[in-house]
Amino acid sequence: MPDIAYVNGAYLPLAEARVSILDRGFLFADGVYEVAAVIGGRLIDNEAHLSRLANSLRELGIESPLPMQKIADVEAELVARNGVNEGLIYLQITRGAAGDRDFAFPAGTTPTLVAFAQKKIIVASSAAETGVKVLTVPDLRWARRDIKTIALLAQVLAKQAALDAGCQEAWMVDQNGLVTEGSSSTAFIITKANAIVTRPNSVAILPGCTRKAVQSLAAREGLTIEERGFSVAEAYDAKEAFLTSASNLVLPVVSIDGRPIGSGAPGANSRLLRTLYIEWATNPGAMG
Ligand code: PDD
Repeated sequence: MPDIAYVNGAYLPLAEARVSILDRGFLFADGVYEVAAVIGGRLIDNEAHLSRLANSLRELGIESPLPMQKIADVEAELVARNGVNEGLIYLQITRGAAGDRDFAFPAGTTPTLVAFAQKKIIVASSAAETGVKVLTVPDLRWARRDIKTIALLAQVLAKQAALDAGCQEAWMVDQNGLVTEGSSSTAFIITKANAIVTRPNSVAILPGCTRKAVQSLAAREGLTIEERGFSVAEAYDAKEAFLTSASNLVLPVVSIDGRPIGSGAPGANSRLLRTLYIEWATNPGAMG
């Protein structure tokens, strides 16, 4: 089956899916996006993703070209047309293609909505078994990281630096030496006193949908959660570390900057939270 993408109302083979070179997403990174996981042919936690999408659009003053329910229908249609059992749906809305390159918002321009599907092994991921290695890098991003914009150059550079260092993810560090988040994930540590620590939501980080669900699952399990910044030194000394994202669910972190975390193997609570998240994601009715 050919890969089918969605562009402004039409379902097209990926190779025929096109937007204008004047699209403001291309010229200015003037747009927002969402990534939701598909497991068992179902979109996971998609209401949370669409609500964050609505928020990102509102913050940038971009009018959604479709109501959120219709966007959910497009996503479901892409899952069906591409036969995705497990993978991701990527969705992007830009301020559209005006007739020229003018920095100011164009009048009367219809936003561009594109979406496509990607097959990926998410649940039985080998990274979940081995854990991932993290490299810390300076956080070079702008001041509104709570908006999920397509301006991702700092994250692209961070991820590449991580890969070049033999790691799989970068944790970005602010000017006070505190970890903000991963290049495409939320960062957590578990202290020797068994507290799960993650930075509070603010303009400094993206409010992760997976983060939120994992926090409630951890609370239900009676685990202690502390929302506060943590330094790189505290992370080195942690008992466990893990990351969360729609595309990776919960992944144990086994080393940071080459220093093993805990025993250097995936930690027990990180593995437990991954299991609980997968149970919740695949059977949300039963778990609430
Ligand atoms: N990234 N922080 C950043 C900077 C992210 O890019 C992401 C997600 C997250 C986790 O958010 P969520 O749990 O809602 O996926 C945190 C997506 C997966 C991406 O860019 O591919």
